[in-house]
Amino acid sequence: MTEIRGLRQIAPYVAGKQPADQKMIKLNTNENAYPPSPRVIESLQAFDAKSLARYSSLDQAELKGALAQQLGVSSEQLIVGNGSDDILSQAFLSFFNSSLPVKFPDLTYGFYKVWGELYHVPYEEVPLTDDFEIDFSDYVGECGGVIIANPNAPTGRFKGLDELESLLRAHPDVVVIVDEAYINFGGQTAISLLDKYDNLFITRTFSKDASLAGLRVGYGIGSRRLIAVMEAVKNSVNPYAVDSLAEALATAAVEDWGYYEKTCQQIARTRDWFSRSLADLGWKVVPSQANFVLAKPRQVAKEVFEALERKHIYVRYFPKVERIRDYLRISIGTDKEMKQVLAVLNALEGGRNE
Ligand SMILES: Cc1ncc(COP(=O)(O)O)c(C=O)c1O
Repeated sequence: MTEIRGLRQIAPYVAGKQPADQKMIKLNTNENAYPPSPRVIESLQAFDAKSLARYSSLDQAELKGALAQQLGVSSEQLIVGNGSDDILSQAFLSFFNSSLPVKFPDLTYGFYKVWGELYHVPYEEVPLTDDFEIDFSDYVGECGGVIIANPNAPTGRFKGLDELESLLRAHPDVVVIVDEAYINFGGQTAISLLDKYDNLFITRTFSKDASLAGLRVGYGIGSRRLIAVMEAVKNSVNPYAVDSLAEALATAAVEDWGYYEKTCQQIARTRDWFSRSLADLGWKVVPSQANFVLAKPRQVAKEVFEALERKHIYVRYFPKVERIRDYLRISIGTDKEMKQVLAVLNALEGGRNE
């Protein structure tokens, strides 16, 4: 083959499978087990398709207004994007431009490393403790920025605000990003710290708590100073990143937040019950505040993963990630789905699965 100059080589992020299996119980990508709120469905039915002839709004004033009211921040502290992956990737472009490495845990959302490589941002992966905890004393010293997911993925572990504040105090001269993709399943948001730290940038998504993974909407919250930089970068990449239908439906979701509070609480209850049940089966379970649990089976993880898949139950197995190659990450579905998972696991214990 003739060599073509200038082609980029990059090891991409590998997302969980999206199988076309009609019978499946899908617990591999931390989606929400419940449907979007009734108000979202009404808003979809009422949407004026003719309006799609026009470009979407440039400032998402409607969605930002609803979010500002719900979160107790001002619209100028918000930026909206095409999923939080869009916001996070542009945050890397916007905030991490020094020659010093950006720090993040060795076990966290796999995309951080991919963006580091893609955008030539130097980075340092800081090992989690043996218990998969982030220890902020490992983050002292000069760096180009910090990004953590809180709760972390794929561990589900949450760091309290006191500790987060000590991290912010230790790094006043760089941006600290807190990825709150899973915050509404039991953690405590860092929004209250925004008044004190204008180097804090929080990212959120509608994919997990709001049951809208397929819609692709995420947002960032930060000081006006940080948002202005992000807006400039966004307008250098794709100014119309949020389509009009997505803005309308996401706004309806925010306006019906009471519905989501209930579904998130239900998922948290299911998670706690399911975690206890796994522990009773002899699994080692990492305490989670997210809509998934990371746990180590008594049997070989690969075999449990394959046995579940034969029963059309899809969970996540990371054979290439050394520290968790003996673990499985299981998203939390409905009670009924999780009972079916436990039935398969119980049968495996008795060797009666085949
Ligand atoms: C920690 C974390 N951040 C961000 C995302 C991206 O979410 P989305 O692009 O769907 O908003 C995910 C998705 O799994 C995640 O686990």
